[in-house]
Amino acid sequence: MTAVTARAHTNIALIKYWGKKDQALMLPQNSSLSLTLDHFYTDTQVEFQPALTADVITLDDQPVTGRGGQRIRNFLDLIRTQSGQTDFAKVTSWNHVPTAAGLASSASGFAALAAAASRAAGMQLDRPALSRLARRGSGSATRSIYGGFVEWQMGNDDQSSQAVPLTETVDWDIQMIAIVLDKHAKKISSSAGMARVVATSPYYPAWVQQTTQDLVDMKQAILSKNLELVGTIAEANAMKMHALNLSATPPFTYFEPESLIAMTMIQDLRNEGVSCYYTMDAGPNIKVICSAAETPTIIAKLGQHFDKHQLLVAKPGPGITYL
Ligand code: PMV
Repeated sequence: MTAVTARAHTNIALIKYWGKKDQALMLPQNSSLSLTLDHFYTDTQVEFQPALTADVITLDDQPVTGRGGQRIRNFLDLIRTQSGQTDFAKVTSWNHVPTAAGLASSASGFAALAAAASRAAGMQLDRPALSRLARRGSGSATRSIYGGFVEWQMGNDDQSSQAVPLTETVDWDIQMIAIVLDKHAKKISSSAGMARVVATSPYYPAWVQQTTQDLVDMKQAILSKNLELVGTIAEANAMKMHALNLSATPPFTYFEPESLIAMTMIQDLRNEGVSCYYTMDAGPNIKVICSAAETPTIIAKLGQHFDKHQLLVAKPGPGITYL
């Protein structure tokens, strides 16, 4: 068997996926939309080897154990079932995402694994099929198969729930600044958070309804290359997602005091006439949506409170590649 190496970039959702309709198939409650980033990616090499008696998995030269390792083995089992491959695999992965910076490494991780492992197992999948396969590893990985702006169409079964590229090559001035606030593992996993809001938030039906409209508006804003509109819709959509968490039983939040400081600084900059907006995922880090032209002004302002090592700039990035 041959070793196959794939590279996948991470993505940040502008319209969030926050709730599953089907846990096993990873079908979401709503469609979502993201921007793939150039700066953060995962390289993964997979080789199925007859001599192995178990899957051997390393990330940045460290063995992957516990729940994380089990999740990867389950995903390899799925690929063995689909391909007929019976050997165990050697999986070697390198994360070019600042370690556990909460920058969606599960998206790039499972997208790279889906691409490398399926090809190493002898499957020849096109990008829609790869997107569906990556979905089974992590919902957000569905979108990392493509570059630029990507929509994950929720569908209603395994065949119809997949990503489609909206504009893979982004030829206008939009980028993100990640403000890295906390390198620790999140307190509530995204799966647990989603399950709780779907089961207990009285606002969940309103979220699904409103997000459906936000997605329509966002696609229009992207097609008209309107940064103000993209940022305004993304920020409001993210805050609605976080409002679900506060309205769950028991309530929870990913906000930390530093998240609120970052958001306030972005609002202040906006009041001073700078076009910048924030979004936040299942962790305390803030991502700023802005133009490259205004990035130096924003970095200078954020630098008054945050260390410059906490501020990472990323541009729109490409889809899956094989190395
Ligand atoms: O698929 P997961 O477990 O990485 O969940 C992703 C959830 C959010 O990042 C909060 C939203 C999104 O659409 O990426």
